[in-house]
Order: sequence, then structure tokens, then C-alpha cells
Amino acid sequence: METLGIDIGGTGIKGAPVDTVTGALLAPRVRILTPEQGKPKPVAKVVEEIAAQFKWQGPIGCGFPSVVQNGVVYSAANIHKSWIGLDADKLFEEITGLPVHVINDADAAGLAEITFGAGRGERGLVMIITIGTGLGSALFINGQLVPNTELGHIEIKGKDAEVNASEAARIRQKMSWKRWSNRFNTYLQTLERLFWPDLFILGGGGAKEFARFKDSLQVRARVVPAQMGNEAGIVGAAMAAHLKT
Ligand code: BGC
Repeated sequence: METLGIDIGGTGIKGAPVDTVTGALLAPRVRILTPEQGKPKPVAKVVEEIAAQFKWQGPIGCGFPSVVQNGVVYSAANIHKSWIGLDADKLFEEITGLPVHVINDADAAGLAEITFGAGRGERGLVMIITIGTGLGSALFINGQLVPNTELGHIEIKGKDAEVNASEAARIRQKMSWKRWSNRFNTYLQTLERLFWPDLFILGGGGAKEFARFKDSLQVRARVVPAQMGNEAGIVGAAMAAHLKT
């Protein structure tokens, strides 16, 4: 089924039509900078703009960097606080005039990886961690998503994990790869102690450098890089349009 997938992030909003059966993009993606402050109305305008650029007339799925239940946003770690309590499905439907479904961005990326990427055919407990502005998580049990896990906010030494171990934290705090890898290793070890996953899949911009830090990771589970690259969020968002999460 052809669906427009849109990945809403803190810095950029990316979209492309997707064939949700094969996971392929049907046209090169469009990227527009996230409006400053990331407030609802200006972000909705960008969603409308992306749909217009593709002259889109079908369903739209969006990934969003928050807890999202039935299209309603319930958290705002890296976006404007005025999203909290807002029905994002409704807001985007009103502006585009098209059916829209919004889910958590890491869950979207996870759906793409588990269906078409590094998690294809994997059983057991698979944990996808996206390394970017925040740390996103998507949990799958035998291929089935457990939505809205917020494991980037697990506390380590009394601090929110993503504040110290995200890609943004590495850049902001000018950390060496070694220093960041040690922190990220502690993060994975903490998750492992609590969840005992069979497989970790690392995605998001930070995972492009997997080769630089893979040797520092000391966990029992297998750890692999994501395979869908930049497209995971878009492809998974399109798949989400057909989910009722
Ligand atoms: C948010 C998550 C999101 C992740 C990645 C975190 O700060 O709480 O909902 O998935 O960032 O964007």
C-alpha cells in the first residue's frame, strides 16, 4: 500500500511516499528544517507542505519524538511543551484534509527495522535504541511492538540516560569517542540488567559510527547496527498509518 511517511525530529522533518509492502521509498525524500521551537502549528504547516510537494492524496503516517497514544502526545523531552495533551492526528488531519496517524518516532524506526532491516525474522526480545538528539527505544517481543517504551529516560547515577549518552550529549559535551562509548556501554548494560533482550539494534544518526564504538560494548546480547539508515523513520511512520497504537 502506498503511504506518505513523515519523520518529525527536533532539527528536521523528512518525508517520502513509501510502499509499505516492500519498505521502499517511491520517490526521493524531502527534508525541511523543523521550525524554531517546534511548536504545533508551524510543525503542522511543514507536514502540509511535504504532503503538497508530493501532491499527496492518501493516508499519512508520522513518527514523533514523544509518547503518543491514539494520536495524542503525552510527553515533550525535546520538543515544545505545548504539544502535551494535543491530539496530533487531529491537528495534522485538519491541516492536510487527509487521514493521519502519529506514533512515537523510535517505535516507527523499530517497525521498519524489524520488518525490513536488521531485525527481520528475529524472535524473542529485540530492543532497538535510536541514538540522536535523544535516546529512543522500541521493544519487540516475537516481532510484536510493545509501544511507547521510554528507555532513554532510565536514570543512571541519578541522571536521565539521554542527557549523558545520546549523540547530542556527545557533541554538546565534546566527548571523545572513548568517553562516550563507555557511557553508552553503561547504558546498554543497565538495560540488559533490567530487560535481558536477545538482540540490541542500534539506529539513529549516532549508529552510523558503529565501527568506532562497537568494541567497547560489553553486553551478553548480540548488538548489531540498524540497516535502514535515514529511511527507517520514514518507512516505519508509513507503516504506522495502518496501526491502531
Ligand atoms: C523521547 C522519546 C523519543 C526519543 C527519540 C526522547 O527524548 O522521550 O519519545 O522517542 O527521544 O527521539
